[in-house]
Amino acid sequence: MTRPASEIPGPVVPGFTRIITALSPVRLPFDSLQYAIDNAARYGRLYGIYLGDSATYVLTDPALAHEMLVERAGEFHKAEMLRHAVGGLIGNGLLTSEGDFWRRQRRLAQPAFHFQRITAYGDTMVASALARMANWRTGETRDIAQDMMAITLEIVNKTLFGTDVREQTERIGQLTLTILEAANDRLISYAPVWERLFKTQQRREEAAKRELFALIEGIIASHRDQPDRGDLLSMLLAARDEDGQPMSARQLRDEVVTLFVAGHETTANALDWAFFTLAQNPEAEARLREEISTLGGRPPTMADLPNLPYSEQVMKEVLRLFPPAAGMTREPIHDLDLGGYRFPKGANLAISTYAMHRDPTLFPDPLRFDPERFSPAREGELPKHAYLPFGAGPRICIGNVFAMFEARLILIAVLQRFRLAVAPGFKVRAEQLFTTRPRGGLKMVLSAA
Ligand code: HEM
Repeated sequence: MTRPASEIPGPVVPGFTRIITALSPVRLPFDSLQYAIDNAARYGRLYGIYLGDSATYVLTDPALAHEMLVERAGEFHKAEMLRHAVGGLIGNGLLTSEGDFWRRQRRLAQPAFHFQRITAYGDTMVASALARMANWRTGETRDIAQDMMAITLEIVNKTLFGTDVREQTERIGQLTLTILEAANDRLISYAPVWERLFKTQQRREEAAKRELFALIEGIIASHRDQPDRGDLLSMLLAARDEDGQPMSARQLRDEVVTLFVAGHETTANALDWAFFTLAQNPEAEARLREEISTLGGRPPTMADLPNLPYSEQVMKEVLRLFPPAAGMTREPIHDLDLGGYRFPKGANLAISTYAMHRDPTLFPDPLRFDPERFSPAREGELPKHAYLPFGAGPRICIGNVFAMFEARLILIAVLQRFRLAVAPGFKVRAEQLFTTRPRGGLKMVLSAA
């Protein structure tokens, strides 16, 4: 028998909390990651968070996640929550668009991410890491989170636009960060009252967005009518739909901004967590170093990666423990039944990837960092549909292969030169903003490799 979604068990957050959240001009400190784990342990793999008069239904059930993302993907849209957080800032790109429009855009953009195309970016990825490390010194304490952000930003710059737009791209980097911060704030503290009362922040965001759009439109214009230069933008410019039509100028701009925003912070965070977890797990680090030593000290290339399988196991296990996209949200496009409950059109549904990846019934001893889970012998035993760092189904991350190559190459290049240990006294804690990142950065001390 199907029951109404409102009967799904879960915590009821009192109305006054909602009022405080709505009135608060600052983000309230709240560990939403632990909250998801605690709720799943207490209420099960489908629970509701009832906040005032609204509800968010959270699932950590692999079968239901598969139903929502893959089997019945056509019955769901991305949730309004996401569009509210980022749509206004990044326009109508792949991350937020829907329906036939999204399908056409995805088809047009897909070739830019073909395996062969991406393998050409390996040298750029390694060069960006080496350039950033040029002024690292052993003995110093650095904020590795800042370094990883800078490296991945440079890579998204170069792979999207080529190498001849350096001045603009620095500014684009700053503007992107402003926009990401605004998206984070919006996602966490939905503060409509303050937004309306105090327009200052809104004006700053608007100014950043206008400047960013203008810069990117300028770069697109200068790329037009040029032969394929090997970058992603050249591919997007050359793309034609079945009727031979290219993307409109505005659409191109929105897709480029989307790739920019979606394409670097996630990978930077994955790398932060990799350095942090390896520092806590000397055995795994030693094994990885042994594998890397087969390169004899020369920088890694894309062609080396098949011979460095443990680096892939390590990154996969990092993405299990610390999925940079901690969750995914959807809403049904019509009333529907799922998991024995009836959900109304527009209901807020979320998958907590973070809680699912740490569910002891799915991943035994879940807090243990164990890259062997992804060894060729054991990977097949993983529970079905329970590992979703890049999502699944038609909306699976378009940059997943790109990101894995990038993360592994940077990881290897850094470990070849340095050992990293968490700075004494520095507490590392995960927080969920737009992505899962270390709260307040990641201070690490460098020593010689
Ligand atoms: C470790 C790094 C990354 C992680 C963990 C990650 C994760 C994800 C996830 C979970 C989704 C699906 C969201 C959903 O279904 O609601 C997604 C979508 C997307 N990602 Fe990534 N991503 C990463 C890197 C990248 C990179 C490098 C790019 C581009 C260069 C990128 C571009 C996108 C785009 C455009 C989408 C939307 C795809 C669509 O809906 O058609 N991501 N990503």
